[in-house]
Amino acid sequence: MIYSRITGTGSYLPGNPVSNDDLVARGVETSDAWIVERTGIRYRHLAAPGQTASDLALEAGRRALEAAGVGPDKVDLIIVATSTPDYIFPSTAALLQAKLGASGGGAAFDLQAVCSGFAYALAVADKFIRSGSHRCALVVGAEVFSRILDWSDRGTCVLFGDGAGAVVLQADDKPGVRATAIHADGRHSGILCVPGTVASGQVIGDPFLRMDGQAVFKFAVRALGDVALEVLQQADVTAESVDWLIPHQANVRILQATAKRLDLPMEKVFVTVDRHGNTSAASVPLALDLGVRDGRIRPGQRLLLQGVGGGFTWGAALVDF
Ligand code: UT7
Repeated sequence: MIYSRITGTGSYLPGNPVSNDDLVARGVETSDAWIVERTGIRYRHLAAPGQTASDLALEAGRRALEAAGVGPDKVDLIIVATSTPDYIFPSTAALLQAKLGASGGGAAFDLQAVCSGFAYALAVADKFIRSGSHRCALVVGAEVFSRILDWSDRGTCVLFGDGAGAVVLQADDKPGVRATAIHADGRHSGILCVPGTVASGQVIGDPFLRMDGQAVFKFAVRALGDVALEVLQQADVTAESVDWLIPHQANVRILQATAKRLDLPMEKVFVTVDRHGNTSAASVPLALDLGVRDGRIRPGQRLLLQGVGGGFTWGAALVDF
């Protein structure tokens, strides 16, 4: 049997941390107390003008390859999960391949599942590797959400940030990724969306992120709970066997509600949202890498990674790290 295993992680946060008080100083009608109480977010990072998703992906990708001890030439599959690509086309993944100096010829494509993007990309890469068609994947979540924020909408602009996270996933004869599940329900597309596009050189519709926060909150808690139970059942293991739950870092209250639903103590829930806000597809690999680098997430541990977001989409992966 061929399985896939995570052999390296990397992440990148651009610029200096921007605090809640910095947002107040920039004219956002909010307060540190409101943001911390409702979301747990204290800082976010914002990309410099001209810094794109592929630039962020490059830093995170390089670090993951270095950690795995793998050269870019060995990578035969690059998937970039992003909703804020550099261009309409070519894909951010193709741009990343060139920036990494990979010789070319491997597969490279973007995957758009908003904040579930990394869970989707990991599931897809796992299936490519299990099928035997590919042996070494670079799976990246990279976002510059600051570009699609309406800074006059305090209900959304305080929540999001920019960043990238990456893992190297390689073929192995022992399971690393034990189970994956991905889902969507397009009937709820309106509760979290950027309902605009570009056509004939014009912006058509509304190019900013719009959200019904309370509807998203309810949906997210239910979806994260359900999909966690689904992958645990698939792998025939219990929630107690999980060392770390690493959910999409959107809001600490969503993470608390998910932990409660799974009967997991908060000590097993990996929380980094305070440091970078909601970085959409980047948040799960970013949290994973921060944990690996600070020594809390270690080889041999069992991880439950989860995403949920616009579409509506949700997904999870159970991983023996
Ligand atoms: O990847 C998934 C991404 N989405 C999420 O994770 C969002 C999930 N939803 C949430 O986390 C919460 O719904 C929010 C944090 C977005 C909002 O919290 P809430 O408890 O649902 O607040 P609300 O929208 O009901 O607003 C309550 C009050 C309103 O004022 P009034 O009408 O009661 O006077 C808002 O205008 O809070 C006000 N408000 C703010 N006040 C200060 C909304 N945003 C802010 C703000 N600062 N940034």
